[in-house]
Amino acid sequence: MSRTFCITVAILLCGVSHACARLVFPPGSDMGYIVSDDPETKFDETNGVNDLDIDEQVAERLLQRGEREAIDVVKTALLKTIEDRSRLQRIENINNYQQERAAAGDATDGKWLGRWFPHPPQFNAQTRHDGAPDDLPENMKDDKHGVAMGIPHVKCDNGKVNLTVDWNESPINYTCFNPKKHHLPVLEDLESRLQCVDIPKNYIPQHYCMNREITYNTTLPVYGPHRPLWPTYGEYVFVPPQRWLHSVEHGAVVLLYHPCAEPVEVQRLRIVLTKCFRKHVITPYTLLTTDRPMALVAWGCSLEMATVNDEEVRSFIKKHALKGPEGHMAKDGSYKKFLINKAEYPPGAKQDKNICPMDQS
Ligand SMILES: *[C@@H]1O[C@H](CO)[C@@H](O)[C@H](O)[C@H]1NC(C)=O
Ligand SMILES: *[C@@H]1O[C@H](CO)[C@@H](O)[C@H](O)[C@H]1NC(C)=O
Ligand SMILES: *[C@@H]1O[C@H](CO)[C@@H](O)[C@H](O)[C@H]1NC(C)=O
Repeated sequence: MSRTFCITVAILLCGVSHACARLVFPPGSDMGYIVSDDPETKFDETNGVNDLDIDEQVAERLLQRGEREAIDVVKTALLKTIEDRSRLQRIENINNYQQERAAAGDATDGKWLGRWFPHPPQFNAQTRHDGAPDDLPENMKDDKHGVAMGIPHVKCDNGKVNLTVDWNESPINYTCFNPKKHHLPVLEDLESRLQCVDIPKNYIPQHYCMNREITYNTTLPVYGPHRPLWPTYGEYVFVPPQRWLHSVEHGAVVLLYHPCAEPVEVQRLRIVLTKCFRKHVITPYTLLTTDRPMALVAWGCSLEMATVNDEEVRSFIKKHALKGPEGHMAKDGSYKKFLINKAEYPPGAKQDKNICPMDQS
């Protein structure tokens, strides 16, 4: 199916021009970019693209939005690439040019000829505060994230107002309602699934106030825009992804478990995590699969589990904790809604960088 899709797109774009381009699209992400296959090729009005190579995974994801729409989206993005190239070439101010390239995340070799898809992470000052309330005070604006982080404000996010935008507080999200067989069977033989996405190095997640929804296009997001206030580290009755993804940006490890997951397994996972690392968030999450009803999430990576293997969990934590653009920030968060247990340093650790201290003795 996706193969057909590739061909369709290629044919559609054939008439347009003559060079080759690639849509680079990190798995699990809706943000990608289009680059020329040949780094020397410059797009302009007369020299465009005649073949667009999209990998199957990407094609599948696009197809979920509907083939017609997907093709239009790709075509539009591609035509914009061509436009941007010719516009960039006309830009006399070299500073602007370099800024745009840097924002695009690939300034190192000076040859980036692509375009973010469907939108750049941080492209120009005008769009940075997009969607923030008009009356947001100046001190709440931030050129990096759009809205400043960690400052509670009633007009934006104070951890109290409009929380139902992210979660309607339904018990369905933290209770196992299956009356017949209370807990999900533990599939001992099913291997864990580790998935990592390649996050462009200059990507900076945006902060959005409670006046707008944030959706993720994936059931297990491992990075993305989020709320300005991040949760106090610890265990919750429930905390929505719009909050814990901020913790992930600060290098946290998030433990998600399906409310019907076998409690003995969840407890094992909880013990390993809390003995390894203070910067954690623990919450139920119904959007996990029922065959792998537990997961750890850290910046760019997730580990979905059917059963808990202590060694595998520790190695995931050691490898992926403290990653993310602000991975070493120690400051605790101020969002506390439905907090059950505040996290402590594990026995034997005085700093976060001392991960799994029990292993070292
Ligand atoms: C709450 O659970 C329902 C049912 O699984 C799900 O559709 C919804 O997305 C969940 N909400 C959150 C915030 O996880
Ligand atoms: C809360 O929601 C109302 C109604 O949608 C909206 O007018 C208001 O701006 C929101 N407040 C914040 C802080 O997002
Ligand atoms: C999800 O997809 C829609 C449509 O392409 C896009 O507007 C939105 O920004 C995406 N959300 C995220 C978090 O990437």
